[in-house]
Amino acid sequence: MDYRKFFNTEIEKFKDQGLYRKFRNIDRPIKSFPSADEKALDSEREVEVWCSNDYLNMSQHPEVVNDIVKTLLEYGSGSGGTRNISGTSTFHTDLEAKLADVHNKDASLLFASAYTANQSTLWTLGKKIKDIEIFSDELNHASLIQGIKNSGAKCHIFRHNDVDHLESLLKEVKKSTPKMIVFESLYSMEGIRSPIIKIVELAKKYNCMTYLDEVHSVGLYGEDGKGIAVEMGVEDQIDIINGTLAKAYGQMGGYIASSFEIIDYIRSFSPGFIFTTSICPSIAAGSLKAIEIVSMAEQLRIRLKENSSYIRQLLDSVAIPYIDTNSHIVAVMVNDPFLCKKVSQDLIDDHKIYAQPIFYPTVPKGLERLRVTVTPKHRKEHIDKMVRALDKVWAKNKLPRRNISKISTI
Ligand SMILES: Cc1ncc(COP(=O)(O)O)c(C=O)c1O
Repeated sequence: MDYRKFFNTEIEKFKDQGLYRKFRNIDRPIKSFPSADEKALDSEREVEVWCSNDYLNMSQHPEVVNDIVKTLLEYGSGSGGTRNISGTSTFHTDLEAKLADVHNKDASLLFASAYTANQSTLWTLGKKIKDIEIFSDELNHASLIQGIKNSGAKCHIFRHNDVDHLESLLKEVKKSTPKMIVFESLYSMEGIRSPIIKIVELAKKYNCMTYLDEVHSVGLYGEDGKGIAVEMGVEDQIDIINGTLAKAYGQMGGYIASSFEIIDYIRSFSPGFIFTTSICPSIAAGSLKAIEIVSMAEQLRIRLKENSSYIRQLLDSVAIPYIDTNSHIVAVMVNDPFLCKKVSQDLIDDHKIYAQPIFYPTVPKGLERLRVTVTPKHRKEHIDKMVRALDKVWAKNKLPRRNISKISTI
């Protein structure tokens, strides 16, 4: 085989479909965010960041940064091992206790990322619970899909947020068969919530376990930012909650929160937990501080809500199409991979606005978009400028207006 030819041909095909990804170097100085420095080999320019998942700016919060630096100076950088072999510290165990508390669960378990947490936990459950059948929302995140697929368990995919379809699939399976429903509380590429109450009702009716990804809701919704399951009062009916330290908490790492038995089981049998170095103590310390701040930061959540409402209001005034929800995520729809890249390029070249284009496989083909995120650090003048820029770029590319996707929120 001509390996070089194989890889080159595959990449060329990918490019022809408009799916090739280009990464930008974006350095984000604390003092100027949302202004940041885009650095290329031979140039540098200041841009405004409009697609960060550092939803509450915790990665730059002075107290968080201070605790990270303090821990780093006292304990060094790496954790020194896997959790089993010298890589467990009080930073790790304190953080696990805190995360269990956030979700009103018995216990939690840290992973290197929420991706690994999803993939590894679902792999373990799908592989080890004999004959289990899994019911998965069609728009579930890649990490959920990978975990289910790799486990080899039988999987039924239900239409996005369609509880009638889910029930029709559940009915087909014998009552005695072990089952698990896997879904997200807030779908991150559209900002739409799942019908969580109806799903837990179905889970009860058909005796299913439930696995909920709260990556985009923890820190942002519910009392003290405890997430949507707590907001809806159903956390005790969700068997496993998955979350990240990398978005509202601004760090890196992921976790699951659950009952003592399930956490002990995953801790004992999940290769993605066991055979990898634990997160750095400094990151765990920063996460502990970020959780403490976020739990008390109602003002930040209010500001985020106000900012996202304001941007929607301005988008309406210039009839730019977006998915109509009341979450913190604003999906501006372009619906074409080439145009989506062009819009993003024009925004940064003409207006110094950085919004990464999102296309397949992150979203279905034909539903390409800019996933716009505001943060509390974005001020009114930033938002005004962003929408003015979008308006101009829309006109330049003769894109259709006022075709707002009226997908109702639940
Ligand atoms: C729904 C969902 N789950 C899990 C993840 C993985 O999170 P992490 O970045 O912590 O790996 C993401 C990442 O964006 C996500 O969107």
